[in-house]
Amino acid sequence: MSDETAVPTDAEARLLVHRAGRTPVYAYSRSALRDAVARVRAASPADAGLYYSLKANPYPGVVNALAPLVDGFDVCSPAEMETALNAGTPPEKVLFTGPAKSRAEAAAALAAGVAVTVESPRQAVLFAEVARGLGVTGLGVIRLNMAYPARTPGAAPSPNQFGVAEEDLAEVIGVLRASPLSVHGLQLFWGSQYSDPEVVLATRKEVTERARECAERFGLSLGLVSIGGGIAMPWRDRDPAVDWARLSEAADALPAEGGRLPLVCEYGRSVAGPAGSLLTTVLDTKTIGDRRYVVVDAGMNDVLLASRLLSGGDRGELRVRVVGGAGRPTVPRVHVTGPLCSQLDVLAEDIELPEAEPGDLLLFAGVGAYGPSFSPGGFLSRDKVREIVF
Ligand SMILES: Cc1ncc(COP(=O)(O)O)c(C=O)c1O
Repeated sequence: MSDETAVPTDAEARLLVHRAGRTPVYAYSRSALRDAVARVRAASPADAGLYYSLKANPYPGVVNALAPLVDGFDVCSPAEMETALNAGTPPEKVLFTGPAKSRAEAAAALAAGVAVTVESPRQAVLFAEVARGLGVTGLGVIRLNMAYPARTPGAAPSPNQFGVAEEDLAEVIGVLRASPLSVHGLQLFWGSQYSDPEVVLATRKEVTERARECAERFGLSLGLVSIGGGIAMPWRDRDPAVDWARLSEAADALPAEGGRLPLVCEYGRSVAGPAGSLLTTVLDTKTIGDRRYVVVDAGMNDVLLASRLLSGGDRGELRVRVVGGAGRPTVPRVHVTGPLCSQLDVLAEDIELPEAEPGDLLLFAGVGAYGPSFSPGGFLSRDKVREIVF
């Protein structure tokens, strides 16, 4: 278990289930969110603002808990935007991102006064038209396209569809300058789940230099330069731990390199991930051949990250324990499976687990990011998983 993951005790877990009224339930720890924000701040360039990305976990209780701790929010839809604004965030501290906003989404964002990423010449024209139509000004943040760096040495960077191509940059800036939107910022997001601190540090430096070069070339006076986040969340027993000490010791170097740029880092998983646990009740157990099946009421419709669909066979497992299971005999070859009629609905494969019986609670730790909102909740039309903050 990674030491940054905050896990409820057995007694807390039982009370949380009573409070929720049923399982499955995601329980997010307020103090763990606070700790995570402090951890990623220390591992970010000094003076950089910290934005939380609702895509990792848009639950309003989580967003409200984070609002006083972070400097702004990255949102991807009008609904996420409303959640961020309802948490009391000033509109200019909300950044509406995404590669293709519809006319209605552009209007919602501009009417609310939030900053918007602009990801192509056509999107720039759309924002300009919509702002003129509404009679409002706007804060444009140009996302620059960049291939995401390789996660492992020697692998190729990953090209992607996001942001403005270098050859379109002058056109986008021209459209915005002739429009009611200002060129308020640049966004240079470069990917997720990097556990090698040297990749994180080198990429931050590279994108900061690119932002400064771009600002100088076009004479931009910027209010925001988002240099991504990228720090991994070790979900699985095999995932490498994040070297927080290395990131923190190097964090002070960047402000000097960034000059006077108003840097912001965007994080999702490393903030919400460690703070969430999923509690699920054992409904049945059975032995078939040499396998012990422990069948629980949470499925991949609640926690897609655990399923075979994402992980494949040789996958490493989410961290799971039996609440009250300490001291019980251990059973080998346990497969924790969900309630869905799908062979993919396997939440842990071939693990050792203390003996579990119907009525027992299982606790999956460190699953606060990309949980319910990232899972196929519509599958089999089952009840939605509950969520609470404690
Ligand atoms: C633009 C942007 N910002 C922030 C994030 C959050 O990233 P993470 O969960 O890796 O911290 C993402 C993830 O896809 C993203 O695309």
